[in-house]
Amino acid sequence: MSFTLQPACGSNFVNREEIINEMIETLTHENLLMGFAFVGSRRVGKTSLLREVHYQLKAKDKIIPVYFSLWGLIEGTLDEFCRKLTLSIMEAYKQELSLKYRLKDLVKVPASKMLDFLKTIDVKIKILEEIEFAISSKRLENKKDISETVEDVFLLGERLATETKSRCILLLDEFPSITELKVKNGKAIGEGIIRKIRTIHESYTKTVCCISGSIKKTMNTTLLSSASPFYRQFIVKKISPFKFEDTRLLLERNLGFKLREDVISLIYNTTAGIPFYVQFIGRGLLKQKEQLITPEVISQIFNELLREEANLLFKEEFYSLGTKEREVLFYMAKESVNKPSEISRVTQESLNVISRYLDYLINKGIIRREERGVYKFEDPIFEQWIAEVLYDGQ
Ligand SMILES: Nc1ncnc2c1ncn2[C@@H]1O[C@H](COP(=O)(O)OP(=O)(O)O)[C@@H](O)[C@H]1O
Ligand SMILES: [Mg+2]
Repeated sequence: MSFTLQPACGSNFVNREEIINEMIETLTHENLLMGFAFVGSRRVGKTSLLREVHYQLKAKDKIIPVYFSLWGLIEGTLDEFCRKLTLSIMEAYKQELSLKYRLKDLVKVPASKMLDFLKTIDVKIKILEEIEFAISSKRLENKKDISETVEDVFLLGERLATETKSRCILLLDEFPSITELKVKNGKAIGEGIIRKIRTIHESYTKTVCCISGSIKKTMNTTLLSSASPFYRQFIVKKISPFKFEDTRLLLERNLGFKLREDVISLIYNTTAGIPFYVQFIGRGLLKQKEQLITPEVISQIFNELLREEANLLFKEEFYSLGTKEREVLFYMAKESVNKPSEISRVTQESLNVISRYLDYLINKGIIRREERGVYKFEDPIFEQWIAEVLYDGQ
C-alpha cells in the first residue's frame, strides 16, 4: 500500500467495491454479454478502475482480460493502434495458447516476437494468418483495407477465445480517441470507425468490451445519445470523485494512522475528493510526523502542488485551448463569475460569443452547466490554479 500518482490497482486501490463487484460478476457471467462504459472527468479514477478489474479478472479461470489505452499510443496512427492492440491481445493469450499446445516455452516469448516464434514451431493455428495480417503495416497503405484491418484486430480476441474455449474481455481506455487515429496523409479516421466496431461488437459471442472516456462530448457521440452507434450497448457508469469517507480511507490506510477530523475535512474540501489530489497530499504527509499534521501543513502541501507538479499539468491543458476559451476561463476563475451575462460584462464580449465558447468548453470537458445559466469548472483545482498561479509574478 502506498500513495501513487500512477493509476492505482491491487493493494493501492481503495473503495469502489460496489462497481467492481458488479463488473466482475457481470463480466464473468456465462450468460451475459454486457460491457461497461465509464464516463468521468480526468483524474477521477477511470483508468484505475479498469486496471483493477483487469487485475481481478486475470485470476479467473478461462477469462482473458486485455487492457489497452488509446492515450498510450505514441504516433497516434491507426497502424500503430492495430499493431499494439494485436500484441496486447497476444500477450494476454500466451498462457492459454501454451496450455492448449503444450508449449511451455511460449510464455517466455515476448509478444513482439510471438508471431515469428509461432511460425518457427509450425503451429497450425488457423488464426495465424489473420494475426500476421493485423500486424503487417503494409496493408494499411491501401486505403480500402482499413475496414478489414480494423475487423481483423477486433475479431482477434474473439477467435482466440473460441480457439481456447475462453472469454475475452477488452478494456479500452479513452476509447473515443479512436476517431482521432491518423490514417494516410495524417488525416483522422473519423467516426466511421466507431460504426464499424459497433457492427463487429454485435457479432461477439465470446468477447465483452468495456470502455472509458474523459470527455463527455465524445462519450456522448459514441454511446450516450440515442443517435450514437453504441446507444444502449453498455452499462454506463458515471465515475465520481471520492466521498468524505473514501478520502479518509485512502489517507489513513496508506499512512497507517488516524488523522484529525479537521485535517480530513480540509483535505476533502480542497481536493474535492478527486483521488489524484488526495494521493498527492497523502504523499506530502509521509514526510510529516503524525502529531504535527495540522490544517496549516495541509494548506502548505496543497500550495506546493498548485505551484509545482500540478503547474506543469495545468499549463499544458490550459495552453492547448484557444485564446478566447482561455480568456473565458481566466475571467470565470479570477473574477468568480459563472453566468454568461457576467462573463460577457467582464470580457466585453457579446453574449452570443460567450455562449458559443462556453459550449466549446463544455464539449472539451472543462466546465459543466450546473443549472440554467450557471457554469462551473469540472475540476475546482484547475480553477484555483488559474485564479492563483497562472499569471502570478508575470
Ligand atoms: N480507487 C482508487 N484508489 C486509490 N487511488 C486512486 C483510485 N482511483 C484513482 N486513484 C488515484 O487517482 C489518480 C488518477 O487516477 P486515474 O485512474 O489515472 O484517473 P483517470 O483515468 O480518471 O484520469 C492516480 O494517482 C490514482 O492513483
Ligand atoms: Mg485515465
